[in-house]
Amino acid sequence: MLNMANSNGAFFLFFALFVGHGITTLQSSVPANQPYRTGFHFQPPKNWINGVMVYKGVYHLFYQYNPNGVKPDGIKIWGHSTSKDLVNWTLHEPAIYPSHSYDINGCWSGSATFLPGGKPAVLYTGIDHRQRQVQNLAFPKNLSDPYLREWIKSDKNALMQPTAKNHINASSFRDPTTSWLGPDKKWRVIIGSKVHSRGLAILYKSKDFVNWIESKTPLHSANNTGMWECPDFYPVRVKGQSGVDTSFSGPFVKHVLKVSLDDTKHDLYTIGSYDNVKDVYTPDEGYVEGDSGLRYDYGKYYASKTFFDIVEKRRILTAWINESSRPVDDIKKGWSGIHAIPRKVWLAENGKQLVQWPIAEIQKLRANQVSLTNILLEEGSVIEVSGVTAAQADVEVSFEIKDFKKAEVVKPSWTNPQLLCSQKGASVKGGLGPFGLLVLASDDLKEHTAVFFRIFKGHNKYVALMCSDQSRSSLNQHNDKTTYGAFLDVDIQQQKLSLRSLMDHSIVESFGGGGKVCITSRVYPTLAINKAAHLYAFNNGTQSIKIAELNAWSMNTAKIN
Ligand SMILES: *[C@@H]1O[C@H](CO)[C@@H](O)[C@H](O)[C@H]1NC(C)=O
Ligand SMILES: *[C@@H]1O[C@H](CO)[C@@H](O)[C@H](O)[C@H]1NC(C)=O
Ligand SMILES: *[C@@H]1O[C@H](CO)[C@@H](O)[C@H](O)[C@H]1NC(C)=O
Ligand SMILES: *[C@@H]1O[C@H](CO)[C@@H](O)[C@H](O)[C@H]1NC(C)=O
Ligand SMILES: *[C@@H]1O[C@H](CO)[C@@H](O)[C@H](O)[C@H]1NC(C)=O
Ligand SMILES: *[C@@H]1O[C@H](CO)[C@@H](O)[C@H](O)[C@H]1NC(C)=O
Repeated sequence: MLNMANSNGAFFLFFALFVGHGITTLQSSVPANQPYRTGFHFQPPKNWINGVMVYKGVYHLFYQYNPNGVKPDGIKIWGHSTSKDLVNWTLHEPAIYPSHSYDINGCWSGSATFLPGGKPAVLYTGIDHRQRQVQNLAFPKNLSDPYLREWIKSDKNALMQPTAKNHINASSFRDPTTSWLGPDKKWRVIIGSKVHSRGLAILYKSKDFVNWIESKTPLHSANNTGMWECPDFYPVRVKGQSGVDTSFSGPFVKHVLKVSLDDTKHDLYTIGSYDNVKDVYTPDEGYVEGDSGLRYDYGKYYASKTFFDIVEKRRILTAWINESSRPVDDIKKGWSGIHAIPRKVWLAENGKQLVQWPIAEIQKLRANQVSLTNILLEEGSVIEVSGVTAAQADVEVSFEIKDFKKAEVVKPSWTNPQLLCSQKGASVKGGLGPFGLLVLASDDLKEHTAVFFRIFKGHNKYVALMCSDQSRSSLNQHNDKTTYGAFLDVDIQQQKLSLRSLMDHSIVESFGGGGKVCITSRVYPTLAINKAAHLYAFNNGTQSIKIAELNAWSMNTAKIN
């Protein structure tokens, strides 16, 4: 990934800050009294993420880290943490840092691949002595060390470079994916790029993982999408939730191509077919490749990556979530950027989209279950869910809709769900909805984040608008309080609509319709902090809604570093 001006900080003894073009080096530990530090969301010392993999039963997370910013451009290295359960993490020494002319100006994103025999290999982007983006290879020094603490770089680096001959843009050539093997036993990898405003997934092939040859045509490209950062390309099973290895191909899988759009900072994906002889990926008909296409998450969620978890046979998605506060406030708190809870990802039954769900391991942190059943929410009602530590909690609720008569009819102009959510926030009354949750709320409701639905009648179907409304999330007016939203089809036969939200002090991750729509937001309440945070369910529509079932849990604190 490329530079993010306001993504700063660390909670090590040293941390560095970009402020405008300047750099300040501070010596500090994180200040005490931290209402926004997360209890169970991973906080790396620096906010960019790289590959995740599991080696000898240990999960490895590598992330971009700016150790001390001795250079004005803030040279990046690879931070490294490991975990046995993707919940509790142990910090290690940085894994990869600038050392040679091919990466002397920074070690940026990359991915891990297991070679035959199980040896991990990492391809990463180096910024070379000429400020060009090039791709490099590194191997663990000691394969008996399950923590893979030391890495050795290939003496053949750089393996892929922009040259006059290949016309690759030296400042738009980064973020190699996990590699996969084709039927010809050659490895393939894609690198994010662009030509003018056309986003590109440049394809390279190799017999030995060291000598890479650029293919004549990219794996895929799309007009007017801008630079593709952190591409991710993987197969998903047509049926069932289990994952498959990245090299898996055949009639039982579809392929997913995800790109992080540098222009809009959104992670978009399409589902399609991969011809592994011609080496071309083609999205299925109907998918939009620009910013209005399908997103993993309709809130904040960037530079995500998946990996195949061979132990649990599932595909796991991780992502970096940056702050919505001002850099000056980030300096005060001494850190910036967290990771989303890892999500299991699979193809929906209708084959048209992905479904995501927090990994099951996170449920081990649940405590003090509170349950409500069959609660009628009449117009204007707000009920408190008490008995959980609402600042650090997990809640799952199933709303029952008996009567769809009051659903408003969708207007043809309602094409942008985010805009619609900001026009129709939680305080705008409706027919069927708004109903949902008020999270990280103060007892007087002066502060709250509303995560809710409105149900509309569309063309021979019902559709829910799912919103995360941050407009009243904090009395501090300086934060980015953009409201987020997305559409979700409603099965009228089922009459139920589910919502799960994970609250962790300054982050709310919400999953609508069993994980068909996800929205992550960052909020910084001033009243609703720690023990003063409350959780409510509400309905502001004229039609009554029933809570069929609600379960909420306090979440224990994980070891996040
Ligand atoms: C390799 O790692 C193993 C396991 O941690 C350790 O016992 C061994 O001493 C290491 N070898 C070297 C050469 O460092
Ligand atoms: C190459 O990348 C730089 C940096 O993003 C951009 O300014 C330039 O327009 C790109 N050139 C082409 C031909 O896309
Ligand atoms: C993409 O843009 C190029 C150059 O402007 C144009 O020739 C081509 O037809 C476009 N492709 C599509 C699919 O729109
Ligand atoms: C980081 O946060 C700012 C402020 O909310 C936002 O404008 C920007 O898009 C974010 N960047 C990413 C990569 O999420
Ligand atoms: C993580 O650590 C917490 C606190 O020590 C512990 O309760 C939990 O069981 C551990 N593992 C998981 C998967 O939550
Ligand atoms: C419900 O609507 C009323 C009237 O618009 C508004 O005052 C109130 O704040 C709304 N409730 C929520 C939770 O937004």
